[in-house]
Amino acid sequence: MKILIVGSGGREHAIAASAVKSPKVDKIYCAPGNAGIGQIAECVPIGAMEFEKLADFAKNHQIDLTIIGMDDPLVGGVVDVFEEKGLKVFGPRKNAAILEGSKAFSKDLMKKYKIPTAAYETFDDPKKALAYLETAKMPIVLKADGLALGKGVLICNTLEEAKAGVKEIMEDKKFGSAGNHMVVEEFMTGREVSVLSFVDGKTIRIMSSAQDHKRAKDGDQGLNTGGMGTFSPSPFYTQEVDAFCQKYIYQATVDAMAAEGRPFTGIIFFGLMLTEEGPKVLEYNARFGDPEAQVVLPRMKNDMIEVMEACVEGKLDEINLEFEENAAVCVVLASDGYPVSYEKGFEIQGLEKFETEEGYYCFHAGTSLKDGKIVTNGGRVLGVTAKGSELKEARANAYKAAEWVEFDNKYMRRDIGKAIDEA
Ligand code: AMP
Ligand code: GLY
Repeated sequence: MKILIVGSGGREHAIAASAVKSPKVDKIYCAPGNAGIGQIAECVPIGAMEFEKLADFAKNHQIDLTIIGMDDPLVGGVVDVFEEKGLKVFGPRKNAAILEGSKAFSKDLMKKYKIPTAAYETFDDPKKALAYLETAKMPIVLKADGLALGKGVLICNTLEEAKAGVKEIMEDKKFGSAGNHMVVEEFMTGREVSVLSFVDGKTIRIMSSAQDHKRAKDGDQGLNTGGMGTFSPSPFYTQEVDAFCQKYIYQATVDAMAAEGRPFTGIIFFGLMLTEEGPKVLEYNARFGDPEAQVVLPRMKNDMIEVMEACVEGKLDEINLEFEENAAVCVVLASDGYPVSYEKGFEIQGLEKFETEEGYYCFHAGTSLKDGKIVTNGGRVLGVTAKGSELKEARANAYKAAEWVEFDNKYMRRDIGKAIDEA
């Protein structure tokens, strides 16, 4: 088979690394890819939002399956463009990717189908939002409706902060048109867990759980980022939590989408919060998490391509997912200053050690090739993943391997997986 992967981050590198292991796969292309992906796939200089060019490429190169890694093209309808041309593609259509693309849509869906989530109101008029906030309990959460690179969520401790937040989102349009509508949501407390799943429109299969670390600095301080590190499985995702989610959340979401005439095929990422009242959905994403994919996929025993084909063909009920009985931790090596401002173009050294060490992976997120050398080219540069027989061992291994690589302005959180000690 020939595979095309769309995207250029650590998640797409992890997807490519799983695809390479499939006995079905002869050749992988990635658009646009990065320097690390380029070692196992042929990178093609087509942007993820150039739908027609991507589809033409897939047609001209007889691609058997295209895998969309990123949210933007999914929400923009890339899958519909491929399907119209009769091309096989893994991911939700535009009318289903809205599950991630609009927070107002996903909140209304959960309310209608009684899927546990925080109480909320939606607004398209800043005046009405301000009037509502006057009587609301603090802290409170404001969310820009559309895609905002994971940054369109403001947690406000006081009324003043909340008022300033409405101005930022709805009037100053800090997150662009994502701020035309806004969700105001009850503040919840609890541990967060990321659960990824494969879905074929009707059947859902859950992958091993993970936990992300979204803030830039140790102790969950600093700004929200795309994710600074992950571990899998989450020791807080107990059998009891799983049973609750199986009963009230997972299949309920797939059935709700089908009932709305928006059957979902691809990956549903459930961002869950384990509250005192039970697990609740914080958000849905319509694609693998980044860097959740970097700890979940290396532990999956199935042939990923076979599972994805089953999703596209509506035969996921014939598949059982299996995961290794071990653990993995991913530490993101970022450019100092991320997520605000940072320098790029520094040479990266020490990458070759990962080629010979079993159970260690260096997924490239923001890298490029310059004069034959691999250089930094983004805020999140690399995701260093290591396995271990259990979480503590995986964490020690990941931090050991994080020292193998060097580049100027290298920055990492030192407390990825610290929560493991409290389990
Ligand atoms: P989201 O993009 O909706 O996942 O929100 C980003 C982050 O904001 C989440 O991972 C949580 O840490 C936090 N968050 C979102 N919604 C809430 C909520 N209702 N209560 C508390 N924290 C929240
Ligand atoms: N790591 C969180 C996300 O991919 O949205």
